Amino acid sequence: MPDFSCRLSDQIQLKTPIILASGVSGNSDSLLVRAAKSGAAAVTTKSCTLKYRPGTDNPASSDWGCGLITNLGMTNPGVDSMVYLINAYRQKAADSVVPVIANIYADNVEEFADLTAKIKLAQPDIVEFVLPDHDQGLIAEITAAVRANAGTIPISAKISATCVAIGKTARTAQDKGANFITAVNPIPGMLIDAFAAKPFLSLQSGWITGPSLKPIALKCISDIYKEVSIPIIGMGGVSSGLDMAEMMLAGASIVGIGSAIYYRGYEAFTKILEEFETFMNTEGYNNLAEICGKIWR
Ligand SMILES: Cc1cc2nc3c(=O)[nH]c(=O)nc-3n(C[C@H](O)[C@H](O)[C@H](O)COP(=O)(O)O)c2cc1C
Repeated sequence: MPDFSCRLSDQIQLKTPIILASGVSGNSDSLLVRAAKSGAAAVTTKSCTLKYRPGTDNPASSDWGCGLITNLGMTNPGVDSMVYLINAYRQKAADSVVPVIANIYADNVEEFADLTAKIKLAQPDIVEFVLPDHDQGLIAEITAAVRANAGTIPISAKISATCVAIGKTARTAQDKGANFITAVNPIPGMLIDAFAAKPFLSLQSGWITGPSLKPIALKCISDIYKEVSIPIIGMGGVSSGLDMAEMMLAGASIVGIGSAIYYRGYEAFTKILEEFETFMNTEGYNNLAEICGKIWR
């Protein structure tokens, strides 16, 4: 059996390279526990903001045939409640506890600094922060602000597939102190209800995840891998062990699962890992280092 243990940093050792992506179960301590007990090697909370943000009207999500489209309106309980939620997850998970990645989202540098200082009270294993798409100066400032306020906690810059110059953005984040890159956040899209002659989602447009995001994510991860030396947490359309292998061949060190929970339930973690193990065995890989970024060597 290949060696699946995964040393992300001096502080973080994962038992396998498959984790829960942000958003899919991360507004509930019980669902984080469920993901941990179902085989996620780390769990990520949903993005939290400084203050509580309410959700949106239905429909907020749809399976459109080639993936999901979702816009939950950045619903979250606010950072103070998220600190409570992370502590509750640790207590409820007990022996099954796995590292927790706290995802934060803000509109400006000052808010990112405040949010980091506040989420630090929960002592997450990683603080993951959502970067804007364009302005390299802002990307540098946000990363530096998160780094300065996270203390010794490792930080991961989460980058969207719509980011222009994605490799350069990842390098800027690395230069300003990011320990990891999380890629990718989804691309925007829209469904139309032709009979009603109006947009299908209540917020008109949403974010495309699942199978249709995979080829885009593979290109983004490849571009990032060529630019940085820090580990990449890859995600976007991973639904099978073969998808996972492709993402690691492109350069991901570990892989996040989101929409696959919709398609395969919480068993997705163990099923995808079993399929990945079969692939590793039949293709003769001994460990994760051998497969990570192999197409670029
Ligand atoms: C319902 C849902 C909610 C999400 N919420 C967040 C979020 O709050 N913050 C974030 O950074 N990403 C969020 N994401 C994006 C995922 O973390 C991930 O980047 C994306 O879904 C790609 O992975 P997938 O194709 O495996 O779902 C969300 C995704 C889904 C499907």
